[in-house]
Amino acid sequence: MKKRVLVSGGAGYIGSHVTVELIAAGYEVVVADNMSNCDMTCFEGVKKITGRDDIPFEKIDCCDSAAVDKLFSDYAIDAVIHFAAFKAVGESVAEPLKYYRNNLLSFLNILEAAKSHSGCNVLFSSSATVYGEAETLPVTESTPRMPATSPYGNTKQMSEDILRDVVFATAKYDGKDGQWPVKGIALRYFNPMGAHPSALIGELPRGVPNNLVPFITQTAIGKRECLSIFGNDYPTADGTCLRDYIDVVDLAKAHVAAVSRMVEGKMKEDYEIFNIGTGRPVSVYELVTAFEKVNGLKLNYKFAPRRPGDVVAIWADTSLANKELGWKAERTLEQTLASAWAWEKHLAENA
Ligand code: WQD
Repeated sequence: MKKRVLVSGGAGYIGSHVTVELIAAGYEVVVADNMSNCDMTCFEGVKKITGRDDIPFEKIDCCDSAAVDKLFSDYAIDAVIHFAAFKAVGESVAEPLKYYRNNLLSFLNILEAAKSHSGCNVLFSSSATVYGEAETLPVTESTPRMPATSPYGNTKQMSEDILRDVVFATAKYDGKDGQWPVKGIALRYFNPMGAHPSALIGELPRGVPNNLVPFITQTAIGKRECLSIFGNDYPTADGTCLRDYIDVVDLAKAHVAAVSRMVEGKMKEDYEIFNIGTGRPVSVYELVTAFEKVNGLKLNYKFAPRRPGDVVAIWADTSLANKELGWKAERTLEQTLASAWAWEKHLAENA
């Protein structure tokens, strides 16, 4: 019997790539999404890539506890990967209640349902944002988390803690009174970028992108006039910030490895955390010049003042994920930047 994975937020950027890799690895997938920040483009792309027209899709809002519970009753779920959340850092500062309500309530509902159904494992989509401005680099999973600098970041930290507490509290359950143990993994992503090599799925930012790579590709295609590189006076070799850019397909494969670890009973602790990055710091300037080179184009950019809230540098120590998940980032920066550009061109051709 194939194991079944519920992917909440499965029609979005990372969720769609994860759905593709789960199906390729032999899992059944149920996609749940309220479509608040995406359209059906990526889900249609997933169907084309996988050749599967029958992937169950449930349009539900995970803040609706009855709808979430019904989902778990309708399908036997072995693991849930929870992506359904808002993710714009700046917006979260302006509208904290929207972020706390949505990101926390949806996760609480997922956990309640998992606890009420036997054998459900929970994978939470966390972020390197939990480390803040780390004192030592690269960061390992035991590097202390810093106070969150935005409500968005705070929802990631709080959700990690909620998952840890639920795993701890439910360990004693045995199904009496309908309560079951929940096991959990939090994956802390560094900076996801790029698109599927087929160019059928990728990132679909609404409005002006906040993140670097979609801003680059939209500038290259002519949707934006000029990229601003925020800050060139940081204490780094070329003065621009350092990040760990992880290819979205590599990232998706890390989810498959983590789900397999959970459903095959290979976890060493009932709650585990893994950094998912490349372990390679890349500056904003390096990324921009690599994009120009690999795609053979000139990007219109300028240096601009620092963006408030940015950390100077963050990159991952990935040795725990490499060892325990048997996973490693494989795609090169050039492959990823080429895929991001191919996706932007695909969008322009199909507009
Ligand atoms: C990367 C670098 C910018 C745009 C954020 C969230 C994190 C995670 C990923 C999301 C920085 C510079 C950017 C631009 C630029 N979560 N930049 N010009 O800030 O590292 O991480 O996204 O869902 O939680 O905090 O990513 O892509 O915004 O920025 O120079 O137009 O690019 O200053 O150094 P960040 P980013």
